[in-house]
Amino acid sequence: MKQILMIEVSPRGPASGSRAAADRLAAHLIAAHPAARLIRRDLAASPLPHLDGATLGVIAARDPANPAPMTELARLSDELTDELLASDCLVIATPMWNFGIPSVLKAWIDLVVRPGLTFQYAGEGVLGLAQGKQAILLPASGGVFSEGPWRPWDFVEPYLKQVLGFIGISDVETIRIEGMNIPGLAEQAVPNAFAAIESLAA
Ligand SMILES: Cc1cc2nc3c(=O)[nH]c(=O)nc-3n(C[C@H](O)[C@H](O)[C@H](O)COP(=O)(O)O)c2cc1C
Repeated sequence: MKQILMIEVSPRGPASGSRAAADRLAAHLIAAHPAARLIRRDLAASPLPHLDGATLGVIAARDPANPAPMTELARLSDELTDELLASDCLVIATPMWNFGIPSVLKAWIDLVVRPGLTFQYAGEGVLGLAQGKQAILLPASGGVFSEGPWRPWDFVEPYLKQVLGFIGISDVETIRIEGMNIPGLAEQAVPNAFAAIESLAA
């Protein structure tokens, strides 16, 4: 493994379950792959802008002979996409907010799901171009979504798996930090995730 890309989203600093799990996973992966480069993109410390019209004009341009004027955000999109394509392992550590992902993570996704770079239409289907990578999801939630009545309300894991599959990443493992806001479960949420990380084949 040459490069690990870790996307961290929670603004809750040391109180964050997803960040605690990300720290533990980073240590676990680096112990197994000491020569790997670890890139940590902290979207709370450095939030990404939403896609704008001028940038869309650049990244969706269909005529290479007639390119739209480059924008700063298109340059950032190129950089984020290159970073993803150069990584063998992608880690997404994110809170569940209102049953889905925080909008800053959606902004990252909108900047890296790029026609011609991470996917392309092929016949009547689509071809993911970010193949050969592993992804590990670390979703933290107040409730429990791995089982029980709230399971259908989880739009974090199914969405992330859908969009990663679309760009060719189908080897996806999920370690949940769940029950963070439920007395009696909260105390075990992070230790349970740590135990799952330690038993992860790296
Ligand atoms: C704005 C907001 C929305 C939230 N929405 C949900 C939710 O829909 N379902 C849930 O189980 N927990 C929800 N929570 C609780 C968080 O998922 C929980 O605090 C989790 O630990 C956040 O991840 P973090 O610890 O990495 O910050 C929400 C918290 C906030 C601040």
